[in-house]
Amino acid sequence: MVGRLITIEGLDGSGKSTLVAGLVAELERRELPVTALREPGGVELAERLRDLVKDPSLEVSARAEALIYAAARAQLVGELVLPLLEAGRFVVLDRYIDSSLAYQGAGRELGVEAVAQINQFATGGLAADRTLYLRVDAATRAERIGERGEAADRLELAGDEFFKLAGDAYDELAAAEPERICVLDGAAAPEVVLAAAIDAISELLP
Ligand SMILES: Nc1ncnc2c1ncn2[C@@H]1O[C@H](COP(=O)(O)OP(=O)(O)OP(=O)(O)O)[C@@H](O)[C@H]1O
Ligand SMILES: [Mg+2]
Repeated sequence: MVGRLITIEGLDGSGKSTLVAGLVAELERRELPVTALREPGGVELAERLRDLVKDPSLEVSARAEALIYAAARAQLVGELVLPLLEAGRFVVLDRYIDSSLAYQGAGRELGVEAVAQINQFATGGLAADRTLYLRVDAATRAERIGERGEAADRLELAGDEFFKLAGDAYDELAAAEPERICVLDGAAAPEVVLAAAIDAISELLP
């Protein structure tokens, strides 16, 4: 049996982690085998790379940043995601390639195509079966991030223009690949978002 890869995308504070938790609970309630992972991370090498790439005290060029994310992703896919899929599990992944296309390709202005190429290499072309993109306006995002009250990491310190570029890129990716990417209203209440997400993956469920 072959599993399914479901990726969750959206800007910081759009509700990805909240949705992952809801999806996992729902799939477990249906007694489906599911594993939740986050990027960058999920395996030791990628967790260490996560610490590096988020550290505000480090100088990290845009190209280096894109490669670090791709390296973390390569390890996660090879060490964990592929074996889990081969074992027939649902893998719910909090960020995947689209995050790099939006943040490094558009936000850091490296070019979406260039970043797509290094990610093709990193993942061997493993694509998500379905991507849920939480679309949320800037004001709602700012409000949520403020309420969380944690210190900003290196990427969160990027300015409004960065997030505008990344958000526009997400919109363009969703428009270009409507079969894979389902746009969800991230400003809706959590239970409404979860219901829409379940609906969007229904054809992947037995
Ligand atoms: N649909 C929702 N309605 C209202 N508040 C929400 C909703 N989803 C998440 N939140 C709240 O917004 C904040 C950000 O949510 P969450 O951490 O899930 O976002 P995220 O996309 O994972 O952020 P990050 O990219 O920084 O990890 C949290 O305080 C969460 O409780
Ligand atoms: Mg999160």
